[in-house]
Amino acid sequence: MADWSDCLNFGISIAKQARKIVLAAFQQQKDVKLKSSPADLVTETDQQVEKILIAAIRRRYPDHSFIGEESVAAGERLELTAAPTWIIDPIDGTVNFVHRFPFVAISIAFAVNKETEFGIVYSCVEDKLFHAQRGRGSFLNGEPLRVSGQEDIHQCVVVTEIGAERDDLALSTMTSNIFRLLQLPVHGVRALGTAAVDMCQVAVGGADAYYHIGMHCWDIAASAIIVQEAGGVVTDTDGSDFDMMSRRVIAASSAAVARSIAQVVQAFPCRRDDLEPSNTCV
Ligand code: IPD
Repeated sequence: MADWSDCLNFGISIAKQARKIVLAAFQQQKDVKLKSSPADLVTETDQQVEKILIAAIRRRYPDHSFIGEESVAAGERLELTAAPTWIIDPIDGTVNFVHRFPFVAISIAFAVNKETEFGIVYSCVEDKLFHAQRGRGSFLNGEPLRVSGQEDIHQCVVVTEIGAERDDLALSTMTSNIFRLLQLPVHGVRALGTAAVDMCQVAVGGADAYYHIGMHCWDIAASAIIVQEAGGVVTDTDGSDFDMMSRRVIAASSAAVARSIAQVVQAFPCRRDDLEPSNTCV
């Protein structure tokens, strides 16, 4: 098995540099632009951080490929090939960033042969650096992570998001999913405004499950391996195998909880990330 530790260590070092840029801009007034919907925002900092990350990686690894949120928004083709590929969200939680709600993350995943080898999620304001490497465990600021192991859905805190999709079908599906979960009941439903940090709550055992429909591969590629390497289960919302391009995910403390979430949650139709155009729900 190839050892990608050099890439992982480099990814961590550039995430630390990028965090300084995110923190410096966090309290400032931002110039905000809209992307696919009035709730899908981008700032100059998102674009700047992505450019800096990609330039640094390209200098060190000139043969590697990239899938970057803002590069795709600017028209680049989104394609995951067998090549070593860095999947980057420069600021996950851009709405939080704009409003200074203190959960924003740099998310970097690295895939080879379409399989994720490592993931890095840096929750910038909290100063929490999560990382995982395939077969080598998950860590928060260097300390090993473990999911809660909860198997009973009624004892769960469940994290989800009302994402950027605001058409009637998406909204009614998302709110009725939450309604049905609360009816079960579960202990609570939470949302932090960043898919990457939400999923890391499952990895640390602070939440027992997370599900989301409509996010993109760059939001969850890194945190998916962080959950898996912490002993958690990651699937599609219909219970089938996880596919980072499907725009549907469940991350859970156990297979039993993942199944319970899959029984309750319904999906609304979303165009796969690897179809063109990549970032619109249909
Ligand atoms: C968004 C966040 C949010 C989720 C959206 C994502 P961004 O990512 O992860 O929690 O609900 O679906 O698009 O745009 O801030 O990188």
